[in-house]
Amino acid sequence: MDNNQHLTEGDINKSNSRVKWYKTIRNASALEFLQRDEDSFLHQSLSTPCLQVLESCEGIYIYDVTGKRYMDFHGNNVHQIGYCNQFVIEKVKKQMDILPFSPRRYTNIPSIKLAEKLANLLPDGLNRVLFAPGGTSAIGIALKLARVVTGKHKVISLWDSFHGASMDAISVGGEEQFKTDLGPLFPGVNHIAPPMTYRNTNTDYDELNYANQLEIEIEQSGNQIGAFIIETIRNTDVQIPTKAYWKRVREICTKHKVLLILDEIPIAFGRTGKMFAFEHYDIEPDIICLGKGLGAGIIPIAAIVARDEYNIASHISLGHYTHEKSPLGAVAALGMLEFMESTNLLQKVKEDELFVREQLHLLKLKHLWIGDVRGIGLLWGIELVKDRNTKEKAVTEAERVMYYCLDLGLSFKVSQGNVLQLCPPLIITRVQLMDAFKIIDLALLSLSEPTE
Ligand SMILES: Cc1ncc(COP(=O)(O)O)c(C=O)c1O
Repeated sequence: MDNNQHLTEGDINKSNSRVKWYKTIRNASALEFLQRDEDSFLHQSLSTPCLQVLESCEGIYIYDVTGKRYMDFHGNNVHQIGYCNQFVIEKVKKQMDILPFSPRRYTNIPSIKLAEKLANLLPDGLNRVLFAPGGTSAIGIALKLARVVTGKHKVISLWDSFHGASMDAISVGGEEQFKTDLGPLFPGVNHIAPPMTYRNTNTDYDELNYANQLEIEIEQSGNQIGAFIIETIRNTDVQIPTKAYWKRVREICTKHKVLLILDEIPIAFGRTGKMFAFEHYDIEPDIICLGKGLGAGIIPIAAIVARDEYNIASHISLGHYTHEKSPLGAVAALGMLEFMESTNLLQKVKEDELFVREQLHLLKLKHLWIGDVRGIGLLWGIELVKDRNTKEKAVTEAERVMYYCLDLGLSFKVSQGNVLQLCPPLIITRVQLMDAFKIIDLALLSLSEPTE
């Protein structure tokens, strides 16, 4: 990892650009609430101190207390069908009056229907569901289940991966920022390199080498690896492996009886143009983790779906969360899926992908700062470099671009120090997409202006 990376927005919230950003906020009420937030919450990376105080959201926009609106190309990946989607909100409101909560030893009809619906959307055999209040908890359930099913406790995951912020999730995750000062994590996790198509080395790129590394690691572990946990397509810096990579990974996992746990928490439900990202690769997971947009950005809900034959752990509690079979979450999720299907959103995203690809490649032709543009569906990464030959990361510039865009009403996050990550709501119009690209264009042009 590049040391500069630790100094960028996304890692800390005290950068110079952040200080300058605060100076642009003149609204007394916003400043007062930001201060009260700072005085009330534990300060932590990526959260308090916060950027602004939000008041409302709708469609592709979030609105702050000063009335300023931002197109939200981040949204923590919950906003596939847009904020405040009225179709879903109406259903959730009705459910609130009937059964807002379901104590754990009981079940409820929306939860049963949602479990059946997910099983119907997934390939045959992937039909055993558990719900959880958030993605991190779903990851924990998947890891437990893999231990029970395989009798093997070790896990392989990728460098720089993120699977949630709890102790078990950071143990398998690969981001150092989440592990600093936290002492021993759970043992038995081996990390291997992620398949990356854009790298600052001159060696020929061969994805199969990355996949083969998995087999080497499994063999060296003395057959103690129970699971390989990985995002099908990495959300943060938008790493899109090839079909060859995925075919080989599936083959290796099957051969060594290692469960393939796909973390699709941020990218399922249409983000990539398919309901689930693994559908791009003609492979199937053994366990899939879902969350975020599942609750339509209204009610938190996550899930794992596992193979039928893994229904063998009735003697232990795999989940046991208070808000497990949440009727509100289930209604929100069923509403989200109905909305996606009735508006043919997947088809729209596929068409948008072509449009975005064309527009971003035009931007790349214009700006030498852009080293790489990659994406699928409505998940895009623009990687900024100081020099296209050396591919040296343009970290400060990426941060400047982010704040410039924020100022003009476009919110997104920067990953790995230099990747502008664009993740708009899937309901976005072409005009709105063009508005966003014009802002990014201006921001990139501004890089040639002197800084104070
Ligand atoms: C890939 C991935 N896995 C797991 C999680 C954890 O989900 P949650 O924040 O809902 O616990 C996230 C959240 O950002 C994520 O991006």
